[in-house]
Amino acid sequence: MTRLKIMAKTDVRVVTVGISGASGALYAQMLLRLLDADQRVEGVYLVASDAGLRLISGELGIVAADGKKLPSLLTGTSAKKIEYLSNKDIGASIASGSAAADAMTVIPCSAGALGAIAAGTAGDLLTRAADVSLKERRPLVLCLRETPLNRIHLENMLRVHDAGATVMPTMPAFYYEPKTIEDLAEQFAYRVLAQLRLPHEKQYRWKGSNVGEKRG
Ligand SMILES: Cc1cc2nc3c(=O)[nH]c(=O)nc-3n(C[C@H](O)[C@H](O)[C@H](O)COP(=O)(O)O)c2cc1C
Repeated sequence: MTRLKIMAKTDVRVVTVGISGASGALYAQMLLRLLDADQRVEGVYLVASDAGLRLISGELGIVAADGKKLPSLLTGTSAKKIEYLSNKDIGASIASGSAAADAMTVIPCSAGALGAIAAGTAGDLLTRAADVSLKERRPLVLCLRETPLNRIHLENMLRVHDAGATVMPTMPAFYYEPKTIEDLAEQFAYRVLAQLRLPHEKQYRWKGSNVGEKRG
C-alpha cells in the first residue's frame, strides 16, 4: 500500500473543539493548529471552560483577557476560521442541533466534563454542545485525562460510549519513536482527527514488523 498522498475527502466541514480543565492543553493547541491549516475544514468553534482557560494559562503560558484572541494566540496564525464562544453563552449556535457543526471533540476532557456529559446536565456551552452532538448522532470524541480512574469515571466512560461518544484517553503511543513532546502531541492529534472523520496524511501508520526488527 502506498502512503496517502492527498488528504482524504470527508463530509466533516465544521468542527467544535471544547477545552476543559484537564492537563494537556498542548493537545488542544496541536489539534487547533491542524484544523486551522486543514483546507477541508471550513470553520471551527472553540469553547473553553474556566478551568480549561486556567490550564491553558498554566501549561502554555497563554492568557487571553479577551477570549476572542485565544484562537490566534493558540495557533500563532490569524486563525480566521476559528470562532471563540464563551462557555457561559448557552445561547450560542452550537447549543442547538440546527447549527452547522459536524463533529466535536473535548480535548483534554476532565473527569468533571465527562461526568456532566454522561449525566446530560448540559449546564454550560461545552457540555451542552456535547449533549447536542450525542442527540444528533454526530461524532463526539472525548479525550479524557485522568489517572488513576475511579468507579465513577469508568461508569461514565461506558455511559457516554453507549450514548455514541468515542472515549479516547490522552494516551500517546511510542512505537513511532517520537523525539519531542510536540511529536507525541501532534501524532495524538492526528488520531483524534481520524476519529473526527478527518484522516490526515501525516498520521503515522503502522506498517507491520517482525518482532525485534526496526520499524520504518
Ligand atoms: C492544575 C490543574 C490540573 C488539573 N488536571 C486535571 C486532570 O488532568 N484531569 C481532571 O479530570 N481534572 C483535572 N483538574 C481538575 C479540574 O480542572 C476540575 O475538576 C474542574 O472543575 C473541571 O471543570 P471543567 O470540566 O468545567 O473544565 C485539574 C485542575 C487544576 C487546577
